[in-house]
Amino acid sequence: MKHFDFLVLGSGIAGLSFALKVAPHGRVAIITKKDRTESNTNYAQGGIAAVTSKEDSFELHVRDTLEAGVGLCKEPAVRTIIEEGPARIAELIELGMHFTEREIPSAPGSRELDLGREGGHSKRRILHAKDVTGREIERALLAAVARQPRITLFENHFAIDLISSQKLGHPGDNQCLGVYVLDKQSGQVETFVAPVTLLATGGLGKVYLYTTNPDIATGDGVAMAWRAGAAVANMEFVQFHPTCLYHPRAKSFLISEAVRGEGAVLKNLAGVEFMEQVHPLKSLAPRDIVARAIDSEMKRSGADHALLDITHKPARFLMERFPNIYQTCLGYGIDMTKEPIPVVPAAHYQCGGVLTNVNGETEIRGLYAVGEVACTGLHGANRLASNSLLEALVCAHRAAQKAIARPASPGEFRIPPWHSGHAHNPDEMVVVAHNWGEIRRLMWDYVGIVRTNKRLQRAQTRIANLQEEIQEYYWDFIVTSDLLELRNIATVAALIVASALRRPESRGLHYNLDYPERNPDWARRDTILRREF
Ligand code: FAD
Ligand code: SIN
Repeated sequence: MKHFDFLVLGSGIAGLSFALKVAPHGRVAIITKKDRTESNTNYAQGGIAAVTSKEDSFELHVRDTLEAGVGLCKEPAVRTIIEEGPARIAELIELGMHFTEREIPSAPGSRELDLGREGGHSKRRILHAKDVTGREIERALLAAVARQPRITLFENHFAIDLISSQKLGHPGDNQCLGVYVLDKQSGQVETFVAPVTLLATGGLGKVYLYTTNPDIATGDGVAMAWRAGAAVANMEFVQFHPTCLYHPRAKSFLISEAVRGEGAVLKNLAGVEFMEQVHPLKSLAPRDIVARAIDSEMKRSGADHALLDITHKPARFLMERFPNIYQTCLGYGIDMTKEPIPVVPAAHYQCGGVLTNVNGETEIRGLYAVGEVACTGLHGANRLASNSLLEALVCAHRAAQKAIARPASPGEFRIPPWHSGHAHNPDEMVVVAHNWGEIRRLMWDYVGIVRTNKRLQRAQTRIANLQEEIQEYYWDFIVTSDLLELRNIATVAALIVASALRRPESRGLHYNLDYPERNPDWARRDTILRREF
């Protein structure tokens, strides 16, 4: 057994920010399933939304967030996160983060933060590091972690399951005692114990066939929290980003909304700007609306992609502002300064997750959840662009303050060692790969941008069958990270479908042709699921 004061699962913005805040108060283990940088954070492009300009105000940022969230945001959480944003950004800069600056036009020689614009924002308010904001955040946070002797980082360590008192059969309040972790190199399962555990495992894009997310995004945190008995909320609201690069060799490459913020327009293959008829903000309308419009345009015309055109902007500006996007597209033979970029919508962000308050506290004592894995009420039915990095920063700080001030006592629990099956099976990999493919395709086809009751019910039956099969494998065979991820994507797929079936309306990211309108009775209702033991 490994004993620590704080366990942090995940090394993205949420996990690293929290670890840095609690490290002065105890020994911290950061457990991360691949290389330390591998996270959704690392691929963030557009930036962090925060009020830093005189032309902007908290009130406007709050209003834009509430509008995007279509009635389901929790306004107190929205206000807290937005109002505390600037202080957390200042800390990040203090830590060594470099945001892109520009010369102040009215005062040559002086500089200010360059602010980008994205869909649904009424003002320019996105702080960014060109188009590689996430990479710069990871660099700055990991450099700070390396300077902290009380933090130990365990790479290639896969968190399998939380150890909760309820799962161990103890009556009374459910308490998190630690986590079972697979050391991917040795193949051994280790037991990590601490009074405080933070889930910062990010999102679930890999549940869908097409996604902007890297391979780590398999919903592990939600699946673990669910198994441990935590409440999970609003899982039907999966955000599809409208503009993922469409190219047979490109895997999950995003074309940032900031490109539309700088004037790019969406066109169909005939060159028609189809967003003009859809929304007054045209190509910069909120994401749910743009993704649905592209989907409908593709279905109407039979095209397999849409086009994003920014060729009217000077080539030098584009190369300077979007160096990563420009170079990556060029690598696929697309020169964005001269030709439109082929794009398709793809699964991007989970607005729901483990139910928490704005301090990251879950229903399980000692268990916190922050970042994409959590549902604080900031995003409601549709996240406003670039609000997620902001949420992770603010909530990591608040969770750290709570965890320091009220450390949970580990209590007197006997924690059994991990039990796993012993069988090897040469067929295992093909079965795992097949089931992965099947879940991701059926989620794309039946539980995607546009849903119907019949498709959701079909998905529910298929996923339940797959879950049974996976459960057999799970108990009989030696655990591998592929098998564990398969079990997790099946669990979160089932949670998404169950939540979608519960909501008899269309709202934000959940669009069901059987109930195409909003239902006022559901305007303020979260979809909350709890596992029965
Ligand atoms: P992540 O950064 O995803 O980190 C999760 C960590 O948990 C990883 O280290 C992972 O390896 C680890 N992990 C997962 N499961 C396990 C396990 N079982 N055991 C151990 N470790 C585990 N948001 C914005 O606000 N602005 C943007 O510009 C923006 N651009 C984006 C661009 C792309 C391409 C993508 C994919 C997302 C973007 N987002 C953006 C969303 C944003 O990046 C994420 O929501 C945010 O980074 C999530 O941070 P996190 O710390 O919660 O999780
Ligand atoms: C983007 O750069 O388009 C992504 C922004 C986000 O997901 O918030």
